Formats: sequence, C-alpha cells, structure tokens
Amino acid sequence: MTYSTEFFHRVEGDLFIEQVPLSTIANEFGTPCYVYSRAALDSVWQRYDRAFGQRRHQVHYAVKANGNLAVLNTLARLGSGFDIVSGGELARVLAAGGEARKIVFSGVGKSAAELDAALRAGIGVFNLESPDEMERLNQVAGGLGLRARVAIRVNPDVDAHTHPYISTGLNENKFGVPMTEALALYRRAASLPNLEVTGVACHIGSQLTDLAPFEDAMARVMALVTALAADGITLSHIDAGGGLGIRYKDETPPSIEDYVAVLCRAIPDTYEICIEPGRSICGAAGVLLSKVEYLKTTPARRFAICDAAMTELIRPALYEAWHDVQTVSAEAAQQPEHRYEIVGPVCESGDFLASDRPLRLREGSLLAIMCAGAYGYAMASNYNARPRPPEVLVDGNAVHLARPRERIEDLFATERLLPDDPK
Ligand code: LLP
Repeated sequence: MTYSTEFFHRVEGDLFIEQVPLSTIANEFGTPCYVYSRAALDSVWQRYDRAFGQRRHQVHYAVKANGNLAVLNTLARLGSGFDIVSGGELARVLAAGGEARKIVFSGVGKSAAELDAALRAGIGVFNLESPDEMERLNQVAGGLGLRARVAIRVNPDVDAHTHPYISTGLNENKFGVPMTEALALYRRAASLPNLEVTGVACHIGSQLTDLAPFEDAMARVMALVTALAADGITLSHIDAGGGLGIRYKDETPPSIEDYVAVLCRAIPDTYEICIEPGRSICGAAGVLLSKVEYLKTTPARRFAICDAAMTELIRPALYEAWHDVQTVSAEAAQQPEHRYEIVGPVCESGDFLASDRPLRLREGSLLAIMCAGAYGYAMASNYNARPRPPEVLVDGNAVHLARPRERIEDLFATERLLPDDPK
C-alpha cells in the first residue's frame, strides 16, 4: 500500500478520496482528471507548521509543484508563504490570496521585468543566485525608489559520493553561488544602496529520503553565517529550501517532524527558519484518474492504452519515476490478472505511465495513478494537441471543480492564419 490511507481508502472495494468515490468524479468530469484532497494539503502543511513549535519560522510552499489557484488558496488560508520562480507564479500567488510579504523569489534567471513586478508587489525576499543578478536587482530597485530584501542562495556542494542522488547542491549544477564566493558577494550586497541583506538560502535537491545531506548542508551554511557575522554582516533568516521526499513505492523518507528537528538543531534560535517544501505538501494529496481505452496484446507485451499520457504526467517518461497504479472500482476483481505496460496515446515510445504492473483490467477500467499531486499538472503539456485535464479539489464530501478541462478550441484560439497571398 503506497497511498495515504487517511485520505484515500476503499469502501467495499471502491477507491475513495476523502468521502467521495473516485468513480463519481470520473463520471462527472470525465477522464483524464486530476483530483486533490484538501484535507491532505491541510494536514501536511499543519504538520510542518506545528513541528517548529515556538521557533520563529515560515513555510513557503514551492508553487512550482502545483500552482492551481485552489491549491494555493487552500494553503494561503492556513497562513502559508510561497516560493516562486517566475512572474507567472507571482501572479498566481497574488490571485490566490497569498500575501506578498510572505513570498520568496528563487531561480537562476529572473528577468528585469520579473524583478520589477516582484518589487512593486512588495515580496518578502529575493534569493539571489549570481553576482550579475544582484547588480541587476540593485538597479531595478533603485529605479523604483525601493530597497529589496535579499538572501544569497549558496551552493553547499554536498558530497556526491555520500549522497549520489542529490542534484542541485553540487558545484557542477547551475544553482546558487559557490561557498567560496559567498563572503565576497555578501560584502558587495551590503555595499549596494538598494539592497538590504536579510538572509541566506540553499536548496540541495528534491525527493531526498535521508536526513544526512540536509545536516551536511546546514552545517556548511551555518559556518558561512558565522563567518559573515564576524565580518559584521548579520542575517535574520536561514532558508533551508525544500526537498523532503515522499513515499512513491518503497522509499522511507524521514518524517516531517524529524526533518524539522534537524533544522532546529542546526540553526540557532536567533534566526528565523524558512523552508520551501513542494512535493511533500501536495504530492501524496493528488491522483490522476484515467480510463483504459484498449487492451492490446503483442507477442512481447500486454499494453493497457489509457486516456492519460506523458502529456498529463511526464514524470515516468522524463525521470523513469515510479507511480503506483490502482484500479478504482471493486468490479476489477472479476478480471484476470496480467502484467501490463500502462501507456498513453501519445506518439512516442517513451510515453508510458507505468511498466510491468500486475493489474486486473478490462476496456473501460478506471485507474488512479497515485501520488501525482506534485509536478503532475504543473508539467502537463498540449503535445499532440491534447487539451489539458480538469483539476478537482475534494473537501470532505464536497467536490470543487478547480479548473475545467481545456477545450480543443482553447488550444489554438490565439493562433493566426497567414494573411491572404497577394493576387
Ligand atoms: N526550492 C527550490 C529553490 C527548488 O528548486 C525546489 C524544487 C523546491 C524548493 C521544492 O522542492 P521539493 O520540496 O518539491 O522537492 N520536476 C521534478 C522535481 C523538480 C524540483 C525542482 N526544484 C520531479 O517531478 O521530480
């Protein structure tokens, strides 16, 4: 069992999300369809928040994981802050009722227009990733007569041999500023008139299932903070980034409480602790519903060809990610069990959702692809001119259509035919 039995459970064999059968949602909104549990979002966010106890802290949900307005609004109502990486995400957070001062702006390539929009909105802090970005922000802020609060995102170069799965915290990655350059950059930041240095940030990777790399990274960041203090640069917050993993298959990620305890141990009381969790908040809260269109047997394989594809959930195709696949309805038990390749209709051999899964299927069977709430819809595309699916948020027995299915005419509504050829 890889799904949370708190928010997903079976009643007489039928799979429910909170109090609603997933088959009811499929009937009402069609498939493919994303479905999220509000209680699951609330529960994880509150666990993070509670784990800090009396420590000064702010949870900044990483919008990139799932930027649906209803999801953002759910978290904003809890008092969440937000970690954004674009002007688009800024606009989404503001439209969803997020507070500007609780926004941190991450990302290696913020454009002048994005810096300008974020400054005008009055966001909390910019996580700077390069010397040139720092100069540009100083300039844009000066033009607006504003002072930008900044943290520098450092790259702690956490040892790849010990933790080979870490991808963003290594020197060869494009992210952050090397530790060796951080001090000089902080000095420069402190000297610029339109910047106010308030913190330090780091983010070492995603889907981490071990506490050791977080501990290593925090130790390195705190060593820098101490060196900065000796240099007269005092910070008020430490941003530890996101990255806590979830259980897709048989991973055993640390608990939220243990993870937060590591941060609280590593960071002295005088600092506010900020985090940027994405996947761990919304990943297990969502499923992708899909219908089997055809069962097709070739001499080598049995395929279940579904109406969802890499266009809805690209993680298997892109990262060979493993998502649990469950049949939704009790009647599946009547079908013979076979091992299936779960694939979509997209014209790519890489278009698969799952491989070699023992399932009881027939044409028309409903499937739930589990733990699809993070980096699912957010990475969906219109490849093969496929409209993107609806998103539904369930709250107890209430079903809220958070985004309707795209219509085919939406796909090319803004495109233009050529002008007439000259006679
Ligand atoms: N903060 C920063 C600066 C980040 O780059 C990220 C994720 C996060 C926070 C949130 O990390 P999380 O808590 O979600 O692990 N598309 C990939 C994941 C890419 C993560 C990118 N950065 C996937 O589907 O696995």
